[in-house]
Amino acid sequence: MRHLIDIQQLSQEDIQQLIETAMDIIEDPVKYSEVCRHKKLATLFFEPSTRTRLSFEAAMYELGGDVLGFSESNSSSAAKGESVSDTARTVGCYADIIAMRHPKEGAPLVASRTAGVPVINAGDGGHNHPTQTLADLLTIYREKGSFNNLTIGCCGDLKFGRTVHSLISAMSRYDNVKFVLISPEELKVPKYIKTDVLEAKGIPYIESVSLEENIGKLDILYMTRVQRERFFNEADYLRLKDSYVLTPEKLKAAREDLSVMHPLPRVNEISVAVDDDPRACYFKQVLNGKYMRMALILKLLEVTV
Ligand code: NCD
Repeated sequence: MRHLIDIQQLSQEDIQQLIETAMDIIEDPVKYSEVCRHKKLATLFFEPSTRTRLSFEAAMYELGGDVLGFSESNSSSAAKGESVSDTARTVGCYADIIAMRHPKEGAPLVASRTAGVPVINAGDGGHNHPTQTLADLLTIYREKGSFNNLTIGCCGDLKFGRTVHSLISAMSRYDNVKFVLISPEELKVPKYIKTDVLEAKGIPYIESVSLEENIGKLDILYMTRVQRERFFNEADYLRLKDSYVLTPEKLKAAREDLSVMHPLPRVNEISVAVDDDPRACYFKQVLNGKYMRMALILKLLEVTV
């Protein structure tokens, strides 16, 4: 049984193959429009989502399949006290593949042990978000043409921002990649990412509190929102929420070929005035996410086209 819980489960060859499938879907969507006929995707979302859930659903519909599921934990039996593994085992009787988002780290892994069908982690707490990383990787590939020789700035809430954790993990496998980790002191990347990923793979990185001092060095600037729902105390959130706001003024110091990325939703960390700058890629990421989720569903269901 194949699942996608952590981006490291996909080799560089797997990623390349997913990108090739996604590019082929973009070229010829009609070829794929019936290939998942009579297959069902269940979206089990125990946490809010717009892009991830709807793009999984759109992906399955565009493959000719069907979708069932729920978008809030209080409309499922979780509200009655059912365990994640029992919910997964139940849904595995109805669906061919499951995409699950959950506020608890590790919940999709637990689900994968009893579901009996492939389980995709659609975000687990402040831990990982591998399918956002697939969207990010296709965006980087389409913008830069390669994953090598890139200086990537990650800015904002690097502690709770699960998309950053999965992105660092994926990009650390390519040649001559460097990271500039820009965050307030309290929201630095967790230590295990530094020791087990960056240092273990000999990836150069610096940590800084300043966006202005670093923006000129970057090939990619990956902005993130401060993750309000993971804070223990509202006062800390309010103090930190506007730590970074990317404006056209700040972008003057950036390279012409910078790619500005953001997993969205944006709160205040990128001014809307940046949206028309040709370097803004965040709405391209949204579309790329749907194509990569289509490619992933095909891979996990072992559908060949
Ligand atoms: C991200 C997430 O859920 O982690 N959103 C998304 O899936 N695109 C980022 C965020 O919520 O800040």
